[in-house]
Amino acid sequence: MFPVPSSLLTLCITFLSFRSIQADCECGYTVNSALYTELIETDFLHLANITTDTDWQPQNYTVTPALARGPYGKNASVSDVVANPLKSQYDWAGDGANGGDAGLQLFVRGGVPQDGLIPMAEVATARVDMLYGSFRAGMKVTGTPGTCGAFFWYFNDTQEIDMEFLSAEFNATSQPVNLVLQSPDSEEAGFNAANTGTFQVHQLNFTPSEGFHEYRFDWSPNAVEFYADGVLLDTMTSAIPTAPGHITLSHWSNGDPTWSAGPPTEDAILTVQYLKGYFNSSDPARQQDWSKRCISPSAVNATCPVPEVTQAPNGNASAHTFFFSMQANETVNQTVFGSKQKSQGIALELSRTGIAVLMLTLSSVVWILLQ
Ligand SMILES: *[C@@H]1O[C@H](CO)[C@@H](O)[C@H](O)[C@H]1NC(C)=O
Ligand SMILES: *[C@@H]1O[C@H](CO)[C@@H](O)[C@H](O)[C@H]1NC(C)=O
Ligand SMILES: *[C@@H]1O[C@H](CO)[C@@H](O)[C@H](O)[C@H]1NC(C)=O
Ligand SMILES: *[C@@H]1O[C@H](CO)[C@@H](O)[C@H](O)[C@H]1NC(C)=O
Ligand SMILES: *[C@@H]1O[C@H](CO)[C@@H](O)[C@H](O)[C@H]1NC(C)=O
Ligand SMILES: *[C@@H]1O[C@H](CO)[C@@H](O)[C@H](O)[C@H]1NC(C)=O
Ligand SMILES: *[C@@H]1O[C@H](CO)[C@@H](O)[C@H](O)[C@H]1NC(C)=O
Ligand SMILES: *[C@@H]1O[C@H](CO)[C@@H](O)[C@H](O)[C@H]1NC(C)=O
Ligand SMILES: *[C@@H]1O[C@H](CO)[C@@H](O)[C@H](O)[C@H]1NC(C)=O
Ligand SMILES: *[C@@H]1O[C@H](CO)[C@@H](O)[C@H](O)[C@H]1NC(C)=O
Repeated sequence: MFPVPSSLLTLCITFLSFRSIQADCECGYTVNSALYTELIETDFLHLANITTDTDWQPQNYTVTPALARGPYGKNASVSDVVANPLKSQYDWAGDGANGGDAGLQLFVRGGVPQDGLIPMAEVATARVDMLYGSFRAGMKVTGTPGTCGAFFWYFNDTQEIDMEFLSAEFNATSQPVNLVLQSPDSEEAGFNAANTGTFQVHQLNFTPSEGFHEYRFDWSPNAVEFYADGVLLDTMTSAIPTAPGHITLSHWSNGDPTWSAGPPTEDAILTVQYLKGYFNSSDPARQQDWSKRCISPSAVNATCPVPEVTQAPNGNASAHTFFFSMQANETVNQTVFGSKQKSQGIALELSRTGIAVLMLTLSSVVWILLQ
């Protein structure tokens, strides 16, 4: 006779069970069929000072020749990590503020060092909880012979994923990238992965020192896949790391004639446009954050596919790549430095529950009044 209370109740239940998403990508980012809950994205084209970016730690250390396993040791110093952003924050192409290629410059200083330590540059992520993920670096390596440019993930010397460029190896007919999974086998061989099953010298069909390219590795529990500009180079299925670690970008030389060679005769620069990582976290607090914010995993836009880069991000305005952290609503509850939005979401879920409780109270009152 009085359908009002029951229809209010129905509405109320419908409202509670309709749990739409609060923000795009709140359940994570997908690469092929893998889901990753976390992201790190750094746009070095527009970053004026890396020491202000809490995602990164420029390294400051020295290594003796003996420990560096070369005729020379290494001296990583913060002053050899140089920000060279584009002149305008609205541009995506052009020279850097200091001239030359824009981006983060990692220097290996030229000449024979007086104290036997070759000045070099290295930056590492502050986060060390990266356990599986897809990692991409847009970079241009040096053409000056005698350095090793390395983009790698690291846990320890036997759990490590490397893409390494040896500038002394480049010539008109050979432009290799060295793909390496360090393993207990390489440790047994004196940290020489060359004769292990997880070392590949892959010839690229471009010269890495002549332009920017995207280098990428996708690390899942079963395989590590290596890519350049979106083209699969190699898949490795043994010695897959199982521990959480961090990402490092490094440019160094120890004079070892069988690897980095050098020291370079003049300053050598590796320039990084961006680093992006979509990964899972080993940190229980971050895992819990994810289960709280990921309410409807199958809803539209709850997960977002990571756009594939299929052409070289070569520094022209139309070839620049996509950043979730530059969109308004796609990195909620992530920890990315400088992202548009960092935390939000739980408040919305609470207000949703609040409205439902209010509706329930209202329907009870109406029902009582109607009796
Ligand atoms: C954020 O994303 C959610 C889910 O797609 C949407 O409902 C909401 O309107 C978006 N908010 C803003 C400010 O764009
Ligand atoms: C990452 O973590 C999420 C949430 O636990 C899980 O669903 C997903 O399968 C994980 N991805 C990989 C590649 O292990
Ligand atoms: C970068 O920022 C740090 C910390 O604010 C400051 O000490 C340093 O002088 C800055 N470096 C440059 C090159 O501006
Ligand atoms: C680098 O390390 C040296 C030696 O430990 C120290 O004297 C110097 O202050 C450090 N520099 C920076 C920028 O942290
Ligand atoms: C390391 O390099 C920095 C910067 O060039 C320099 O100031 C420092 O003296 C060097 N340290 C050593 C031990 O060579
Ligand atoms: C790296 O870590 C693994 C797992 O904890 C361990 O078994 C291995 O011995 C470590 N390797 C080195 C070189 O410390
Ligand atoms: C280029 O390098 C490859 C590999 O090191 C070598 O076999 C080849 O002879 C070199 N070619 C020239 C033209 O120097
Ligand atoms: C959200 O979903 C729509 C429809 O599938 C898609 O066009 C859009 O790109 C998605 N947004 C994100 C951030 O993935
Ligand atoms: C920008 O680079 C892309 C990829 O290399 C190329 O397809 C495009 O023609 C370039 N555009 C301009 C304006 O140079
Ligand atoms: C993510 O959300 C949780 C609440 O569920 C909050 O405790 C945490 O601080 C947030 N993390 C970030 C990085 O915003």
